Parts: sequence; structure tokens; C-alpha cells
Amino acid sequence: MTFFWKFTVIHVLIIPCCVVNYVIPEDNFDIPSIAKYFNTKGRYEEVNPHLIKDIFAVNRSILQPPSAQCQPFHLTAIIRHGTRYPTSKNAKEMQQLYNMVMSSASGKESWLREIKSQWRMWYTEDMDGRLVQKGVEDHKHLAIRLSKLFPSLISEEKLRGGFIKFITSSKHRCVNSTLSFKAGLTELWAITDQDFHHAINDSVMRFFDHCTRYVQEVDNNSSALSEINTFRQGPEMRRVTEKIADRLGVQYSLITQDMADAAFYLCAYEFAIKAVNSPWCQLFDEEDAKVIEYASDLREYWKRGYGYDINSKSSCILFHDVFNRLNKAASENKSGQQLTEAVTVQVGHADTLLPLLTLLGFFKDNVSLNSSNYATQTQRSFRTSHMLPYAANLLLVLYDCGAGELRLQALLNEKPVTFPGLSDQQASMPRYEDVKENYRELLQGCDFETECQLFKSPA
Ligand SMILES: *[C@@H]1O[C@H](CO)[C@@H](O)[C@H](O)[C@H]1NC(C)=O
Ligand SMILES: *[C@@H]1O[C@H](CO)[C@@H](O)[C@H](O)[C@H]1NC(C)=O
Ligand SMILES: *[C@@H]1O[C@H](CO)[C@@H](O)[C@H](O)[C@H]1NC(C)=O
Ligand SMILES: *[C@@H]1O[C@H](CO)[C@@H](O)[C@H](O)[C@H]1NC(C)=O
Ligand SMILES: *[C@@H]1O[C@H](CO)[C@@H](O)[C@H](O)[C@H]1NC(C)=O
Ligand SMILES: *[C@@H]1O[C@H](CO)[C@@H](O)[C@H](O)[C@H]1NC(C)=O
Ligand SMILES: *[C@@H]1O[C@H](CO)[C@@H](O)[C@H](O)[C@H]1NC(C)=O
Ligand SMILES: *[C@@H]1O[C@H](CO)[C@@H](O)[C@H](O)[C@H]1NC(C)=O
Repeated sequence: MTFFWKFTVIHVLIIPCCVVNYVIPEDNFDIPSIAKYFNTKGRYEEVNPHLIKDIFAVNRSILQPPSAQCQPFHLTAIIRHGTRYPTSKNAKEMQQLYNMVMSSASGKESWLREIKSQWRMWYTEDMDGRLVQKGVEDHKHLAIRLSKLFPSLISEEKLRGGFIKFITSSKHRCVNSTLSFKAGLTELWAITDQDFHHAINDSVMRFFDHCTRYVQEVDNNSSALSEINTFRQGPEMRRVTEKIADRLGVQYSLITQDMADAAFYLCAYEFAIKAVNSPWCQLFDEEDAKVIEYASDLREYWKRGYGYDINSKSSCILFHDVFNRLNKAASENKSGQQLTEAVTVQVGHADTLLPLLTLLGFFKDNVSLNSSNYATQTQRSFRTSHMLPYAANLLLVLYDCGAGELRLQALLNEKPVTFPGLSDQQASMPRYEDVKENYRELLQGCDFETECQLFKSPA
């Protein structure tokens, strides 16, 4: 089941200012077989494997405008922060797992000997979810790729002219990601004589904290997560913890669900942060990984996705913010004015993107995810491993196709996606008017204040 990709990459990119050596240090750089099931702890490269060979690879022909006349004139990008350290809670659970393994594991496998004799516990609670160096690179590289994908929009002239605007969540990992994105561009164009402002705006980028009804009914309500708890105590997860106990050579009772999660995180973090296939990954086979992936998808589904209506409605403020900006750009272009914003880069969280994607209707399965349908949901489209790796991004691009016809393209993680409900032949770049018609009810309603007040009066 395990597959190894063995190669050495020494990539040299020559750009005007400098030479960047992108070197993967290990001679036998291998990818854990379970790396595609890491949910929101996954590498961006797992959803775009061609980037493993060339992190700057861009294929402009994926954009496929309906006619050669179509030219992009505005881009709004909503981007998750890059790779980060574990949160304090994760680090604590990893420490507990490590202590248990050190004191009790009796297995004789070589990977277990490696954990016990060579591996050092280096995660600490004060890491607190901060951006790591790989996360800095995630955003620098993304900025460079987007400048190649949309050279007329993300250009030195537009940046210097103040036509590229940056908005970020106040969290350190998001601010640092924003700085990294900017650094990707300023280093690319060797700009040293100018600084570029970013605005911090939590009401738009961390709306989930400010939606009272969401906080009370879902975020701070343990019974809202009953499906997750039921699944975690169910037969699929029990089997996973028993297999972990067997592999370690400890009693079943010693392995809790939290420890199973912590072991999975350890494998995921070691890979995302340090690019190593850690011995911790040997605690899982692909079947186990799929079960843990499902448990995590269940949590996202009920906490940020389709599980409760308020989850997506909490993003109404971001939804309107985005469409107000698209409308402004559209009307400026139509009336022949100079555009005030060619590009807007908005940096936030998985928790920012998922409610918005849900509000827009993406990745909606016919059947809801629950504690008893793991086996029938193997083909589900709601898969956070595909949707929300580090540096996940939703791009909305407005095109002028001549004769006053405007079109809107959506890309998720640099791949075109079709707006749900607009599935005709031009769905990957529908007319902007049709998109607005598709979302008419939300555009006319979806009022943050109304949706988020505690006692919503019947409409
Ligand atoms: C670029 O994308 C087009 C359209 O999807 C595809 O046909 C082509 O093979 C891709 N080229 C490369 C180099 O990947
Ligand atoms: C992130 O920003 C903080 C200050 O806001 C700084 O101390 C830290 O070194 C930065 N981390 C990275 C990886 O750039
Ligand atoms: C955040 O953005 C919203 C919507 O664009 C705006 O109304 C608000 O004034 C902004 N807040 C800050 C602190 O800039
Ligand atoms: C918590 O969630 C449950 C299940 O959705 C719901 O019935 C209950 O009203 C919620 N509690 C609060 C305080 O909103
Ligand atoms: C969460 O709920 C508990 C009671 O279940 C309450 O004491 C606490 O204040 C709530 N916290 C928030 C942020 O609403
Ligand atoms: C509108 O966008 C098109 C495509 O980029 C461009 O050719 C045209 O000049 C724009 N109009 C204005 C006023 O910016
Ligand atoms: C979902 O349901 C619709 C309508 O019942 C049906 O047309 C469609 O084929 C279903 N899709 C899947 C993937 O089952
Ligand atoms: C889970 O969903 C399936 C399919 O919709 C349904 O038959 C089943 O009753 C649900 N289980 C629970 C516990 O809600």
C-alpha cells in the first residue's frame, strides 16, 4: 500500500532580482501513504501534485475563457494562512501520547525503536499555531504563481500604484502570511523603496467570533456536535484505536480517541513542517486514515459546513463584502473609470473559507454526513483534505468579454470550479449577471445582524 516518490529536486528559478534555490534536502524524500487524508493539516502540494516537481508551475490554459476577447480586470482572492505549528491543545495531546509510548509501548518494530531511541518530542505549547517557515514559503510561492496566472492584474505597476489591496485576520499566522504574500511579490520585482499597507479586519475575516447566534447554538454547544461524538465512540473508530494499540503493544484501554488524533497529527505535522515521513505514520494504514479523515470531516460539516444553517449564514458579512467589491469593479469597468482595486487579497482561516464555500453551495452532497453513514459516504464531495489544505484559496475573477459582457470565474486552489446551480456549458465562466441571479436571494438578504441575533423573529 505504501508508495514512495524518490527523487532529488534542485530547482533553480532565475528571476530579475535573485536566484532562489529550492532544494529538498533528503535524498529519499518520501511521502506518507496517508498524506492525502490530513484534512485541514494537509500540504497544499497534495491537492496540486504537479507543484512537487516545480513549485512555480502555472498552466494558463486551464482558464479557458469562452472567447479570446475576454480579459480579466479584477481578482478577489480569499486565502487561508500557510502551514503552521500545532495549537497549544494539539501540542499537549501529542506530549501525552509521547509519554505513554515511552513508558508503555512494548512492540519490537524498527519504527517503534526509532520513536523511542531517536525521535525527540520538540512540539511545545508555546508554539500556539504560529506560522512556520514552510508557511512563509506557501504564501510567497502562491503570490508568484498568481502573478504568472494573472500577469495583467498582479503586476509591479498595479502593486506600486496601490491597486492591490490586502486585508487580513488579526491572528499572527494570518498577518505573517499576508506579509509573506507581499514579500513574494516585492522580492520578485526587487522592490525595496516602497512598503505596502494591509488592513486588519476581523469583522470580515473572523466573522465566526462575532456571530452571537452561531457562538451560542453551535460553537459553544457540545450537543451540536453529537454526531461527531457518536462516531468517535462507534465501531470504526474503536477499530482504529485497537489497531494502534496492537502496533504499539499496549492494552486497548490505554489508547484514547484523543491519542489516536494526536498520533495522526504528529505524522501530519512532521510531514507538513519538516517534510519527513515520520515513524509515527507507521501507526496507521490507509483504511485507518480514511476513518480519521471522516471523523474530522464530520466535525467540519457540523461546525462550519452544511450541518446547521447558521454556520454558513455567519459568513453573510464576507459574502456581501466580496460581492460589493465585485459590483464596484464591474461598474467602474463598465463606466470607463479607472479601477480602484484590481486585486484584493484577503487572508483568513479554514473557518473563514468553509462557511463561505458552504453559503455558495460548493461540495454539497445529497445525503448529510452523520455518525452512521461512513461506509456509504466514501465518494462524498465534502472532503476537507481536498478543499482546505494550508494556503487553500478561493479566487473570483471578473472578465470583460467585449460588448459590455462581464463574466465571473471561480477557482479553488488554482483549479476552476463551477458554481452550483449554474451547470450549463459555460459554467466555468458564467456571465456575471447569471451568477448574481443564481445568488439573488442571498444578495437581497443574508443580513449578518439579522441572522446572528439570538432570537431571530420569524421571517
Ligand atoms: C494545461 O492545461 C490544459 C487544459 O487543461 C491541458 O490540456 C494541458 O495538458 C496542460 N499542460 C500542462 C503542461 O500541464
Ligand atoms: C510572525 O510575526 C511575528 C510578529 O508579529 C514575529 O515575531 C514572527 O517571527 C513572525 N514569524 C514568521 C515565521 O515570520
Ligand atoms: C471591515 O470591513 C467592513 C466591510 O467592508 C467595513 O464595513 C468595516 O468598516 C471594516 N472594519 C475595519 C476595522 O476596517
Ligand atoms: C445546542 O444544539 C442542540 C442540537 O442542535 C440544540 O437543540 C440546542 O438548542 C442548542 N443549544 C443552544 C443553547 O442553542
Ligand atoms: C459557553 O457556554 C457556557 C455554559 O454552557 C457559558 O458559561 C459560557 O459563558 C459560554 N461562553 C460563550 C463564549 O458564550
Ligand atoms: C475593462 O476591462 C477590460 C479588460 O481588462 C479592459 O480592456 C478595459 O480597459 C477596462 N476598462 C476600464 C475602464 O478599466
Ligand atoms: C443527487 O440527487 C439528485 C436529485 O435527486 C440526482 O439527480 C443526482 O443524481 C444525485 N447525485 C448523486 C451523486 O447521487
Ligand atoms: C444518517 O444518514 C443516513 C442517510 O441519510 C440515514 O439513513 C441515517 O438514519 C442517519 N443516521 C443518523 C444517526 O442520523
